[in-house]
Amino acid sequence: MEPMSSDTGAPRPRLFSGMQPTQDSLHIGNYLGALVNWVCMQEEFEAIYCVVDMHAITVDVEPELLRARTRATAAQYLAGGVDPAQSAVFVQSHVAEHAELTWILSCLTGYGEAGRMTQFKDKSTKTGAEGSNVGLFTYPILMAADILLYDAAKVPVGEDQRQHLELTRNLAQRFNARYGPTLVVPEPHIVKDTAKIQDLAHPSAKMSKSAPAGALTLLDDPKVLRKRIMSAVTDTGREITFDEEAKPGVANLLRIYSALDGRDIPTLEADYQGRGYGDLKKDLVEVVLAVATPYREKTMAYLNDPAELDRILADGADRVRPIARATLDRVYERVGFLAARR
Ligand code: TRP
Repeated sequence: MEPMSSDTGAPRPRLFSGMQPTQDSLHIGNYLGALVNWVCMQEEFEAIYCVVDMHAITVDVEPELLRARTRATAAQYLAGGVDPAQSAVFVQSHVAEHAELTWILSCLTGYGEAGRMTQFKDKSTKTGAEGSNVGLFTYPILMAADILLYDAAKVPVGEDQRQHLELTRNLAQRFNARYGPTLVVPEPHIVKDTAKIQDLAHPSAKMSKSAPAGALTLLDDPKVLRKRIMSAVTDTGREITFDEEAKPGVANLLRIYSALDGRDIPTLEADYQGRGYGDLKKDLVEVVLAVATPYREKTMAYLNDPAELDRILADGADRVRPIARATLDRVYERVGFLAARR
């Protein structure tokens, strides 16, 4: 496998991102909010896309389910257009350096600082002190290690990860201030609101895997997708206009439509002038299926050949491990650990 560099030989800035293997299928919000961006960015950046299985065990999960979802998540990266010849696709637990750097960074993170992470506060309140664990508490430090190991310049994430990115930057700066310039301070790349996809049944809430009735899960049967779209909540009135406040349901359908079909929202409004919500929904079914059908077929092709998928993931890990090792060696030396024989 080629070392990572662009065709022209000029080094591209590095990018890192990841998703947790916590679902069987991405929904259209994950797809439009993350995967489509990942695919666009892989030309300009030397991209590393990770399936963060170590993050996924911060909540209880059956081992076989985790294994299946790890493959399913990787297969969907590839089906969505991540090109393993161009970008590295790998599984977090395959590169031991993630856990090793997490320890070093943990020793630089304040207890109160970690306790202020809003996602931790939300999740631990939901599960209660009994259901919560230390892994959930240190989750953002593992995420910082993911990013800092690869000298990533850019990290595309959703708005919900902004605070974790800020912690990552603070930890890199703190390390550098304490031990000398060592770690690259990454830039967040917060994916904008245009890709904000809401729940079809409750348009005031974000689309989420935990509310399947309002989610468009891409690997679902076409019949299910059709039903969810046709029964999406719309608003009073009959005109198809984009009005976030007065017509959040219709606005959401238009946003999904526009993102998948490429026509901008004013064009869609004009095209649907004088037509009803039913027409819009019927056409949206076709637009969604035009994306979901090949996506499902490609994903299934990978999942039906797990040996090939595992080979791609092993190649990805082989490609990124030397980068991670070099960073960790630098860090260990700075911290004052005695050099190990290798
Ligand atoms: N915490 C991220 C999420 O839930 C996933 C993640 C883990 C990640 N490590 C990362 C994202 C590093 C970007 C970079 O969405």
